[in-house]
Amino acid sequence: MTDFAFREYKEFDAGAVVDVLRGRVLGVVFRGMIPAGECARITERFWNSPARRTRGVDAPGHYVGSYHYHKTTRDYLDEASAAQPELDDILGTPHDPLTAIRSGLAEALAAEGILFRSARHDGREAGTALLRSWHGMGQFALAPHEDEAQCGEPRQADFEIQRVKGRPVGAMNLCLENGTAGRLVVWNTRPDDTVRERLGLVHTGSPYPVEHLDGIESLHLNIAPGDVYFFNGAYVHAVEPETSPTSRRTTLSGILGFIDERTVVSWT
Ligand SMILES: [Fe+2]
Repeated sequence: MTDFAFREYKEFDAGAVVDVLRGRVLGVVFRGMIPAGECARITERFWNSPARRTRGVDAPGHYVGSYHYHKTTRDYLDEASAAQPELDDILGTPHDPLTAIRSGLAEALAAEGILFRSARHDGREAGTALLRSWHGMGQFALAPHEDEAQCGEPRQADFEIQRVKGRPVGAMNLCLENGTAGRLVVWNTRPDDTVRERLGLVHTGSPYPVEHLDGIESLHLNIAPGDVYFFNGAYVHAVEPETSPTSRRTTLSGILGFIDERTVVSWT
C-alpha cells in the first residue's frame, strides 16, 4: 500500500528515492538541494543554447534533450544520443546535480544488489535527462496526465522500459526556475487500461478530463528553484500555471523504474 504523501527532506537521500521506486510512498522532495548559483548557471546556458528547441503550439515549451513519447525505440534512442552532448555541455558534467543524483542512486541500489543504468536497445542508450521549460497559462500549465500509459506504446514494444508498466514509474524533477505559483498537483488515482480505454487515453495517458478527477483526493506541492523531487508518475498529476506571463518554470527531468528485481533503468 502506497503512502499517498510527499516526504520532505533537507538533503538528498537516495534511499528515499528507492522507497518511491518500490511503491512505499508516493513521493519525496529534497528542499533546496541545488544551490541558487548552480540553478542560474544551468538555466542561463539553457536559454542561450543553440541546441534549444521548441515544442507545441497550444502549450509552448522549450527543451534540450529527447523524449520517448510517441516515437519508435530507434528514433528515440538516435535522438537521445544526438542530444546527449548538448545536454552534458549545458549541465557542465560531471560536476552537476544530475550526475550527483545518478551516482548516489547507483550506489544506494548497488548496496541492495541492484543495477542502475540508462535504458538501452541495440547498443544505443536512453538520455539521462530532458531540460525543459513551459509557459502554459490555461487551467494547468501541464494538463492532468500519467506517465505509465506511454510505457505501452506499440512502436516501443521492443524497448525494455515497457517492463516498468505495472510497477511504480519514478518521475524525477530538478526545479531550476519557478515563479511563485506552478504547484504540482497529484490525484490519488492510478488508472489502469480499462479506465484508459474508456477515456481514449490508452497509449497517451493524457489529458484526463477534470470531471474524471472530481471528488478524488489530491495533494498540492509547492516547488521552489533548487528543489528536487521524485514521485510515482503512474498517479494522475498536473502542473498549475504561473500567475505571471513572465514567470518561467524550467526543470531537468527523467523517468526511472524497476524492470525486474535486480535492475532499475532510466529514460526521458
Ligand atoms: Fe508527468
